[in-house]
Amino acid sequence: MSAEFKDEFPNEAQAKATSVDDLKAQLGEIVVAARAAVAEATSTDALAETKAELLGRSSHLAALRSAIGSFNTDDRPEAGRACNEATDEITTLMDARHNELAQVERTALLQTERADLTEIIGDLTVGHSHIITQTRRTLEDLFVGMGYTVADGPEIDTEWHNFTALNFPLGHPARDMYDTLYVNWGKAMSTMLRTHTSPVQVRTMTSQPPPIAVVAPGRCFRRDTADATHMPVFHQIEGLLIDRNINLGHLAGTIEAFTTAFFGEGFSSRLRPSYFPFTEPSAEFDIQRPDGSWLELGGCGMVHPNVLEACGIDPEEWTGFAFGFGIDRLAMIRYGVDDLRDLWLGDMRFLRQF
Ligand code: PHE
Repeated sequence: MSAEFKDEFPNEAQAKATSVDDLKAQLGEIVVAARAAVAEATSTDALAETKAELLGRSSHLAALRSAIGSFNTDDRPEAGRACNEATDEITTLMDARHNELAQVERTALLQTERADLTEIIGDLTVGHSHIITQTRRTLEDLFVGMGYTVADGPEIDTEWHNFTALNFPLGHPARDMYDTLYVNWGKAMSTMLRTHTSPVQVRTMTSQPPPIAVVAPGRCFRRDTADATHMPVFHQIEGLLIDRNINLGHLAGTIEAFTTAFFGEGFSSRLRPSYFPFTEPSAEFDIQRPDGSWLELGGCGMVHPNVLEACGIDPEEWTGFAFGFGIDRLAMIRYGVDDLRDLWLGDMRFLRQF
């Protein structure tokens, strides 16, 4: 309570009423002062304080009410009614002002919160695709430009498409390279979330005759704990080319052409011997950045004759190569992202940078 405001309210000693008329006169002053004090309150918190001062236990009004005890018995009902009326009047003033202030405060609060919404709506109107999608589309365009078509396959696939047809017989130790997530469907371990996009090679070869040139981008799944460089869900793009007289040189040339087309001049590639059951020979391919550093990007190799045979293609007549790499990793390199998880959080502050 401000000092001047306090002066308008005599303390308890001054508040003794000598008669009903005197009491009514004091009550009249209290109501007038209350009207001004209530109008002066500029927040619901301030109003709550004013309320305590006007109606609380140590208020002038409370003092007058207790003075009634010293009145004649005949005067008491009238004095009591007068106190009640004054209290009601002040309470009504308070309630009306409270509603006003609460409304203003709510509007102000909504205004603050609406700022965020406006931001998001603004982003939607100038929105763009996620960088994984951007990267996938760039890759698709690039390979389509090289004569490939885009193939698609199911994310839940059979053990035969994901492993057996790719020359991983049942019990083959290379199956352990893949932390497979099996689906509870049919025979135990017969159905799974695909661990790579290579089953799309199989589906393409079993559904169309060579020559074949496809790329298959898509989601893959492995039992992995999320960290800066691993996610249980990730994206790969697979390439498959089958024709007559295809050799390792075609594969190396394709990887090199892809590297400069995607990353730009100054980048180059190399193949390093590796092992995959479905390619022979197999290689990892790395790219070299303009600063000379090497980065491991994916796997590749010449399609194994067993795979061609499993898919009904004569390995004496047809040969081919396949390659596969991570789209998310490529997006990270291209956009300079250092934590894979940022690609999945959907945080607008991160996403809108690209
Ligand atoms: N599918 C392989 C993997 O995920 C990558 C690969 C694709 C290797 C094609 C060779 C040829 O490990």
